[in-house]
Amino acid sequence: MTDRKGIILAGGSGTRLYPITTAVSKQLLPIYDKPMIYYPLTVLMLAGIREILVITTPHDQDQFRRTLGDGSQWGISLSYVTQPSPDGLAQAFILAEEFLAGAPSAMILGDNIFFGHGLPEALREAGQSAHGASVFGYRVSDPERYGVVDFAPDGTVRGIIEKPQVPPSSYAVTGLYFVDGTAPARARAVTPSARGELEITTLLESYLADGALRVQRMGRGYAWLDTGTHDSLLDAGNFVRTLTNRQGQQVGSPDEVAYEMGWITKAHLRERARQFGKNEYGAYLAGLAAD
Ligand code: DAU
Repeated sequence: MTDRKGIILAGGSGTRLYPITTAVSKQLLPIYDKPMIYYPLTVLMLAGIREILVITTPHDQDQFRRTLGDGSQWGISLSYVTQPSPDGLAQAFILAEEFLAGAPSAMILGDNIFFGHGLPEALREAGQSAHGASVFGYRVSDPERYGVVDFAPDGTVRGIIEKPQVPPSSYAVTGLYFVDGTAPARARAVTPSARGELEITTLLESYLADGALRVQRMGRGYAWLDTGTHDSLLDAGNFVRTLTNRQGQQVGSPDEVAYEMGWITKAHLRERARQFGKNEYGAYLAGLAAD
């Protein structure tokens, strides 16, 4: 099969986090010791994806380029495209159409953070089929804030509903979407919702109508963290801090993932460590290279 490509959607106005996002893009804010976008980036890398398109607002693109570069430092390829206005998640596939050139893809929201034992395996499984779409359902206490899975009594999926007033289940659809090569054409057929957006849920319903939507439940052993409010942003940072300090292992380090995946050599990792000087991140990478 054609290699799956990745998309990180990192645009949007970030108004819910004003005033901190008046000058800085939300997806570049720190989650403990790293820029937020490092976390979704490493999720795509763990899925084995090496060709990734980063979608940003026009005025934030330079900062993302400065933060992530062309990806060669991690043995991957990063390219950039802008989304002139936040017209909806499904628009990502239209903006990415040329980049995808018919390939299957995985799109992740630049503000979604995933953590859990067995995540790489779950990601690889979701990415296995070249046909249809695969998404993850995650149990939350406030499903009305998300796209929600509507299960029929026999457990099959009969709908995905965006921010329902009365949620049909407690399962939110996370911001990670594995889709086949038909996604751009399907996205072009999506008409704007009442709030004027090309909804990702409408795109998923098009797969569902063709019997081609898989919803994998992500169990309680996983953390899917939200960064949409000041409180959840701080909670996500504290979560990463607790894990990092307790285990002495990094969460969301593209350098470590690249090395583990065999995409960069030990010598390259050592050089990266040197570039970070004597700070903790540099010391951590130096430790990995010395193992
Ligand atoms: O996080 C998962 C949820 O993400 C899903 O369960 C929902 O089905 C999906 O609609 C979305 O809901 P949100 O309410 O979180 O969407 P929001 O408008 O906040 O956008 C999510 C991120 O994507 C945010 O960081 C901004 C960015 N974005 C958003 C839009 C609408 C863009 O880059 N471009 C856009 O056009």
